Amino acid sequence: MKYLVLGNPIAHSKSPQIHLAFAAQFGLENFAYERCLVPLDGFVEAIADFAESGVQGANITVPFKEEAFHLCTALTERAAAAGAVNTLKVNPDGSWLGDNTDGAGLVSDLLRYGSLKGKRILVLGAGGAAAGVLQPLLAEQPASLSIANRTPERANALAQRFTGESLHIHASAFVAIEGAFDVLINATSASLSGQSLALPAGVFADGALAYDMMYGKGETPFLADARLAGAQCVDGLGMLVGQAAEAFYLWTGLRPDVLPVLNSMRAAL
Ligand code: ATR
Repeated sequence: MKYLVLGNPIAHSKSPQIHLAFAAQFGLENFAYERCLVPLDGFVEAIADFAESGVQGANITVPFKEEAFHLCTALTERAAAAGAVNTLKVNPDGSWLGDNTDGAGLVSDLLRYGSLKGKRILVLGAGGAAAGVLQPLLAEQPASLSIANRTPERANALAQRFTGESLHIHASAFVAIEGAFDVLINATSASLSGQSLALPAGVFADGALAYDMMYGKGETPFLADARLAGAQCVDGLGMLVGQAAEAFYLWTGLRPDVLPVLNSMRAAL
């Protein structure tokens, strides 16, 4: 069993550690999982000979998720909705199934803190990370789903992609966010540059959960602001392990136990 994670850069990827820990839970001794640094213009070549080289599946990370989406002839519904592929399964005939497990990974982590049904959810950001999680969030039947972005046009365009869903997605600029929310998810890359988001006062409802897709040793500026506003704060390490668990299940049909892997990764941060 041979699996890869493809990206650029890739040296930092924790995916091998996670998947090998999952495989160990089931005693899969012949499970191999490696990092693969792909040249920025070399993604097509990198996956072209998967079937011959015995690769059965791959995770796709930055910056190749959209390219992978366009190359797959078969897509899961959630990958089609996301417009991006983070998991490839190689079929016996060498063709690929493209899936996106990011949203499921996020939702499974959020559900550890309570149901999303009937909650007012706000997603901050309108890039690829936000697009990948909207459909799985809608499927949890929140009371409302809103997106806000520094550039409101991108939020509007993203919301429009989901018109026709049973729940309308509200879109706005950060400054125009109205009301309070029970679950706020930071899907912007602002934390990478150590920047906080200029959110209006009062966006955190009483007992709100603030979730940052980023993770690291210290608290992100978004979570620091959320903590000051009284919210419960969670970083994205559980989403990372959760999306990997969904990919592992797609490949092997086995559902790994996320929590021990998450706990050991947390301890090693
Ligand atoms: P990703 O695939 O990680 O979502 P992306 O598609 O480049 O990456 O999107 C980055 C997101 O982070 C966007 O929503 C971006 O806002 P803009 O559309 O206005 O550019 C947001 N972002 C990045 N830096 C930010 C900052 N300092 N403050 C607020 N939003 C920021």
